[in-house]
Amino acid sequence: MPINLNITVGTIFLLLAVSCQGAAALMPSLSEPCMVTDFPALCRGTINGQTNVNAATDVAIRELMKRTRHARDIAKKELQVLDGGVATCLSNFNSAFDNLDKALKNYAVRGELYLRASELQKEGKKIIFTNVGNPHALGQKPLTFPRQVVALCQAPFLLDNPNVGMLFPADAIARAKHYLSLTSGGLGAYSDSRGLPGVRKEVAEFIERRDGYPSDPELIFLTDGASKGVMQILNCVIRGAGDGILVPVPQYPLYSATISLLGGSLVPYYLDESENWGLDVNNLRQSVAQARSQGISVRAMVIINPGNPTGQCLSEANLREILRFCYNEKLVLLGDEVYQQNIYQDERPFISSKKVLMDMGSPFSKEVQLVSFHTVSKGYWGECGQRGGYFEMTNFPPRVVEEIYKVASIALSPNVSAQIFMGLMVNPPKPGDISYDQFTRESKGILESLRRRAKIMTDGFNSCKNVVCNFTEGAMYSFPQIRLPPGALQAAKQAGKVPDVFYCLKLLEATGISTVPGSGFGQKEGVFHLRTTILPAEEEMPEIMDSFKKFNDAFMTQYDNNFGYSRM
Ligand SMILES: Cc1ncc(COP(=O)(O)O)c(C=O)c1O
Ligand SMILES: *[C@@H]1O[C@H](CO)[C@@H](O)[C@H](O)[C@H]1NC(C)=O
Ligand SMILES: *[C@@H]1O[C@H](CO)[C@@H](O)[C@H](O)[C@H]1NC(C)=O
Repeated sequence: MPINLNITVGTIFLLLAVSCQGAAALMPSLSEPCMVTDFPALCRGTINGQTNVNAATDVAIRELMKRTRHARDIAKKELQVLDGGVATCLSNFNSAFDNLDKALKNYAVRGELYLRASELQKEGKKIIFTNVGNPHALGQKPLTFPRQVVALCQAPFLLDNPNVGMLFPADAIARAKHYLSLTSGGLGAYSDSRGLPGVRKEVAEFIERRDGYPSDPELIFLTDGASKGVMQILNCVIRGAGDGILVPVPQYPLYSATISLLGGSLVPYYLDESENWGLDVNNLRQSVAQARSQGISVRAMVIINPGNPTGQCLSEANLREILRFCYNEKLVLLGDEVYQQNIYQDERPFISSKKVLMDMGSPFSKEVQLVSFHTVSKGYWGECGQRGGYFEMTNFPPRVVEEIYKVASIALSPNVSAQIFMGLMVNPPKPGDISYDQFTRESKGILESLRRRAKIMTDGFNSCKNVVCNFTEGAMYSFPQIRLPPGALQAAKQAGKVPDVFYCLKLLEATGISTVPGSGFGQKEGVFHLRTTILPAEEEMPEIMDSFKKFNDAFMTQYDNNFGYSRM
């Protein structure tokens, strides 16, 4: 099988940065050229920032949109007076701005609902933010051991203090010293742009233990959260509008936003709600055939397992079918496995795509190109603000790995403290270590509570009028279907809102519960959902579900005229 992935190092960002700098040089009168040339960096930072609570306030998004428009206006005005030679540059600007515009509008988890919720919060209303899978923001406490280790790494002078042993357990002190010895100057120094070799080795050992197959640290890159990794890989796969990426619908908007930012084509495949959000390979075939008939070259496929927003866990048989499909169709498989620790049932434990691929043996195990992603943001860690992630490449030729390394080098180095979080996540305290008991108690406590919350939530939704919800098998979300009566569709139309946005806004105003409308993730025509996280504190959960039910049932009664519900 030929190599699927032909790297285009001249990515859209590089091209844009270069061509726009060229244009700026031609135009001494361009009053704020840096706005234009800054643009690619800005938009990349912002999209990544959507999951970074600190960076992506509504103010920041609005400001960015304002600056974008402003920069576009300046560029247009200046370029008008120049001859046709720069017309291409203008059209580059324009399509990049349009892409950003689209990408930001697409970003449902920070969309209209979120902005309205922030406004209400400013007015003093109590808001329950269930729109982002951001556990610590909803009160989850950090695990003690990893914070001790990173604290010592951040403040190495504490290690010289004779009283350090009174504040920190000996295993945390030893680990901190170990990590510091892996760096060339502590947390303040850049690391290799693939991440610290010692941490990549810890990741490789974790993958080997998990899957029972060898893993090569040279094929593992540490990243600032999984988002950055996904963006790096998509950046390498997408050469232009003719390149298509298969993405599950409903999907997590990182994919739609990044693909539109990079100017590629999203090729949707629908997950089947009546089959518990399963993935039907016939469906996949149809999606690919249709895209190809439109001249799109489909190059990669994304799976999210366990699913966001749908919460399903893929079975081993399903994964095998997917891998065979990727082999036949010569697709790179992007396995988003950030929720691998978040499993709330025993029938379908998490199985990595890498393990299934290796189990399949030759020729699959030698040829299917797979990138799998992981993060410290999820699991029982929930360290979203630390921005730690990794990806592992399987069956990529050295030439391609080399190119990806070059692209990663543009950003110099992933966050070093985040790399240490990753090292700790893949190599936690072991039986016999001083911190083992406490670590186990804390992590089990979080996972068991999540499991109970998943059930409280699903049961709560299923007790509501016109609401049906599949059980949250994994990840951190519940994705109930809301069957809206015609009266509600009519009222939404009058209000100029998409029906599920209308419902979610009413829910927010009535109860303070901030959710994300299903339309932000994609859903079948005429079928409506909302997504909520299962993260609110367990003791608040019954009250939240009561208040949801009270609102929902009143809403349904208000608009009910007893026939013709929206439904699948
Ligand atoms: C499916 C999926 N992939 C990736 C991410 C991004 O995670 P990170 O914080 O590692 O960038 C998220 C975050 O919610 C997610 O839900
Ligand atoms: C999932 O939800 C759909 C829609 O309500 C339903 O048809 C299906 O039976 C559910 N599946 C399970 C396993 O509950
Ligand atoms: C790096 O990590 C620190 C703390 O771990 C965090 O405060 C910072 O925002 C991160 N920076 C980036 C660029 O992700």
